[in-house]
Amino acid sequence: MQTSSPVSVAPMMDWTDRHCRYFMRLLSPSALLYTEMVTAAAIVHGDADRLLRFNDEEHPLALQLGGSDPGWMAKATAVASAYGYDEVNINVGCPSDRVQSGRFGACLMADPALVAECYAAMQEQTNVPVTVKSRVGIDDLDSDEFLVAFVEPLVRAGCRKFVVHARIAILEGLSPKENRSIPPLQYERVYRLKRDFPDVEVVINGGLTSASRVDEVLAHVDGAMIGRQAYHRPYFLAELEQRFIPGWAAPAREDVVANMLAYTDRQLVDGVPLNRITRHMLGLFAGCPGARAWRRYLSEHAHRHGAGSEVLVNALNAMPAAA
Ligand SMILES: Cc1cc2nc3c(=O)[nH]c(=O)nc-3n(C[C@H](O)[C@H](O)[C@H](O)COP(=O)(O)O)c2cc1C
Repeated sequence: MQTSSPVSVAPMMDWTDRHCRYFMRLLSPSALLYTEMVTAAAIVHGDADRLLRFNDEEHPLALQLGGSDPGWMAKATAVASAYGYDEVNINVGCPSDRVQSGRFGACLMADPALVAECYAAMQEQTNVPVTVKSRVGIDDLDSDEFLVAFVEPLVRAGCRKFVVHARIAILEGLSPKENRSIPPLQYERVYRLKRDFPDVEVVINGGLTSASRVDEVLAHVDGAMIGRQAYHRPYFLAELEQRFIPGWAAPAREDVVANMLAYTDRQLVDGVPLNRITRHMLGLFAGCPGARAWRRYLSEHAHRHGAGSEVLVNALNAMPAAA
């Protein structure tokens, strides 16, 4: 029986926190999950434990780091290695202003030697793979040659896995959100990268919203990373798991809620506000009758002072019986 899936869930700031990942894991026992991006500086100078700790159930789990100083990236990797992540990923794909000001994210695609230096320094600190997530290009640097020139020094340094968001990033003039939809998807560019580097694992990302599209891309590359669709319609992850792990039976959505009840009770004891958890569950019934009632009940009740896990039960009860 196949035990690992070619599917991963993208790093998404403010979304893929540990509560979200615990929830997603119930829907996909084998997909590789990514943390939100954590900056190397925050780990080195901040509250590393708050930023890095996670639930055992979240494995397999990759930590995404942002930064461009090889020394800091190495230090952050060393600190993180004690937590038992399964992969450490370098963010070379994020175009936001805040990220550019610290000189990391997508702008680093223009400095492949520096990214390779970061990679080498980080890989020295850990036994798990250090990988890179990038775009296919930036601004007018939008060619196969540019992407190959970015990847080559990293491969030479030993990097064996690249996640590529199949769009360029426009570094000025577009918001991060626009940068995830306005530059067109260019899957062919990622397919060619795999053909140019057949021994390297290439994971494609961007716009994978249906199982048929995932099948289509997997004819060309090694893995498929799902972002927004996994968040807005999390049951998609269960559908993919069923496709790739024969014999695995998707849980009923109500059973997922039951499991989250127990998790929520444990977190509430630790002082986590209810809506920090339930906000990730709004899309659980997307596409089902009653989805709107579920979403509305959670949105209106989970943030209230003293709200407990009974809100989840009441939200189920607020749905029409057909759901
Ligand atoms: C809310 C949000 C936050 C994101 N934060 C990150 C991040 O921290 N690091 C990163 O590499 N990409 C980040 N991304 C980009 C996603 O990882 C992914 O590349 C992008 O959404 C395209 O995939 P999709 O079309 O499947 O959503 C973020 C995307 C969203 C929607």
